[in-house]
Amino acid sequence: MYGLVNRAIQELVTTNFGEDKWQEVRKVAKIEEEIFISNEPYPDEITYNLVGAVVETTDLSCRDVMHAFGEYWILETGRKQYGDIVEANGDNFVDFLSNLPDLHARIQLMFPHLQPPIFEVTDVDGNFMHLHYTSKRKGLEEFVVGLVKGTGKLFQIEPECKLIQPATEDSDERIFSISWA
Ligand code: HEM
Repeated sequence: MYGLVNRAIQELVTTNFGEDKWQEVRKVAKIEEEIFISNEPYPDEITYNLVGAVVETTDLSCRDVMHAFGEYWILETGRKQYGDIVEANGDNFVDFLSNLPDLHARIQLMFPHLQPPIFEVTDVDGNFMHLHYTSKRKGLEEFVVGLVKGTGKLFQIEPECKLIQPATEDSDERIFSISWA
């Protein structure tokens, strides 16, 4: 994934646990790079190793880290660094999630090697929807939950997001049910 993803993990760790913890995480993840360059693609393995190293060196579970990272990505990285794109992506929670393909397409103009996930919103009914998420990448379901919770905060709501259909051998599509008060 692009360096900005790894940079966001670095910022999340240094903000919450300090620079020493980040150096420990780097060591455990066997990262040689001193810095990640935002607009350079890195092997996905680096991102997965970083998350694993945060789990290993803190009291947090993998689920906790993915949720925290998802929220941080929206509220800090997204809102602060790509504010215009985030703001233009929808006036409410349903529209914002429905427009995720446009959002990633806009990001792709800046990052041509982006391998964006595919999203589709269906079955919107009052405060309920299904979110379909398709990606070849494995193990990011709890990241999606964190991203949805972070997106909820943009619109002052606290959504519940549950995986109701995992990927199978034949399909990379997962389905989440999302509801809110
Ligand atoms: C807020 C602004 C957002 C920005 C700037 C953004 C940008 C990005 C970028 C740069 C990547 C890395 C892809 C790569 O390097 O190949 C990515 C991946 C991803 N994005 Fe977004 N994104 C945003 C919001 C969201 C939201 C709201 C969701 C879902 C609710 C989402 C779901 C994902 C997922 C799951 C991935 C991991 C890659 C995968 O599953 O294949 N993103 N995004």
